[in-house]
Amino acid sequence: MSQPLTARRSAPISGHVRVPGDKSISHRALILGALATGRTRIAGLLEAEDVLATARAVEALGAEVRHDGDAFEVLGQGVGGLRAPDAPLDFGNSGTASRLMLGVVAGHGMRAEFTGDVSLCRRPMGRVLEPLATMGLQVEGERDTLPLTVQGTQDLVPIVYDLAVPSAQVKSSILLAGLHAPGRTTVVEPLPTRDHTERMLEFFGAELKIEDRADGARAVTVCGDAELTGADLAVPGDPSSAAFLVAAALICPGSEVLIENVLMNPTRTGFLETLREMGADLEVLDLRETGGELAGDLRVKASALKGVRVPPERAPSMIDEYPVLAVVAAFAEGETHMAGLAELKVKESDRLAATAAGLTACGVEVRIETDDLIVRGAGNVKGGGRVETHMDHRLAMAFLTLGLGAQEPVTVDDVAMIATSFPGFVALMSGLGAEFA
Ligand code: S3P
Repeated sequence: MSQPLTARRSAPISGHVRVPGDKSISHRALILGALATGRTRIAGLLEAEDVLATARAVEALGAEVRHDGDAFEVLGQGVGGLRAPDAPLDFGNSGTASRLMLGVVAGHGMRAEFTGDVSLCRRPMGRVLEPLATMGLQVEGERDTLPLTVQGTQDLVPIVYDLAVPSAQVKSSILLAGLHAPGRTTVVEPLPTRDHTERMLEFFGAELKIEDRADGARAVTVCGDAELTGADLAVPGDPSSAAFLVAAALICPGSEVLIENVLMNPTRTGFLETLREMGADLEVLDLRETGGELAGDLRVKASALKGVRVPPERAPSMIDEYPVLAVVAAFAEGETHMAGLAELKVKESDRLAATAAGLTACGVEVRIETDDLIVRGAGNVKGGGRVETHMDHRLAMAFLTLGLGAQEPVTVDDVAMIATSFPGFVALMSGLGAEFA
């Protein structure tokens, strides 16, 4: 049963809040905790469906995960120490969980079945299976979508791999496999993608080499037969979740919001950079380091915005924020041209097409040119549409946000998937003054 929800034009969005923990870091904390020796204690873990899928998967492979007060503890089994699962591993809606865990399973002599929901079973897995197969993973039936069954090996071969697409998931999957391979495994990415795996690997004691090349590419090398030691981590707030609050504050006149303890890793701040170029009144306060990552408090005030061109090389640093950036662009004066968005087509839905369709339903002038999305802002957005979210949490939150600033209420067809990344989104936004019905 789908759960529609309507957002209507709201009074100023105001208050001091925290958003739930970063999703990417939460997945990695559970996985590296399982591969480490000893205990890993994780404060601020995102307790959302996607991350719980990773928790269940590492438990099914023999690493105990327990809730202890306001933290999670993982009892690691050491690199290579996990055991075969008794049942298929179900990753629900999570591309990150499934792709990273393929890299983990690759280095263990175990057979495992991977499955997920309808959206995940449509997403391309060939991008991780191909390099992992070169390292020694066997894939039954030559499939490249879930459900699939794989056979890992304790005799993986280290590789040097040039990523065809800038994907942190693919990079991370290969690096995780490389932990079990003798020798050095290198991933070369055409543009830097989020580097949480690298930072956390170093934090857990792995040996890593990172080389930034003159052409903008980055080569990451991990030394195999690694030994990881359990660690204490605190997960900062997810900037991809904070993005909806930031957007709502920008487009609802009179708003001012302070979001505390948001991850400020430079591979994740492209959205803020773009908003600044659009004229947003944004401030990062008290920038600090925590567990190998940067965090800060984010203050945002309603602002008059203008359209900008977003260059393709910025895409990896804001890949999950394009739907909500497109929403903000609808409220800006002039055209916003977002270039190089091919990867949006293979997210939880085809976000390029679905974002354009949602904007059109809300009376916004928008067009797609090959892999670019072009939104003509008008300051005043009509709204009034019913938006299809295609099992995609970020589309649901982006278009509810649009409804908060539009003239007429906006209904999204299903909000159930919001629980995959941002449980409590509706309650948190309502607490700041957002009106939903
Ligand atoms: C993620 C990487 C990105 C992003 C996803 C999380 C990660 O995917 O869209 O939400 O945690 O590594 P790609 O690596 O496929 O671009």
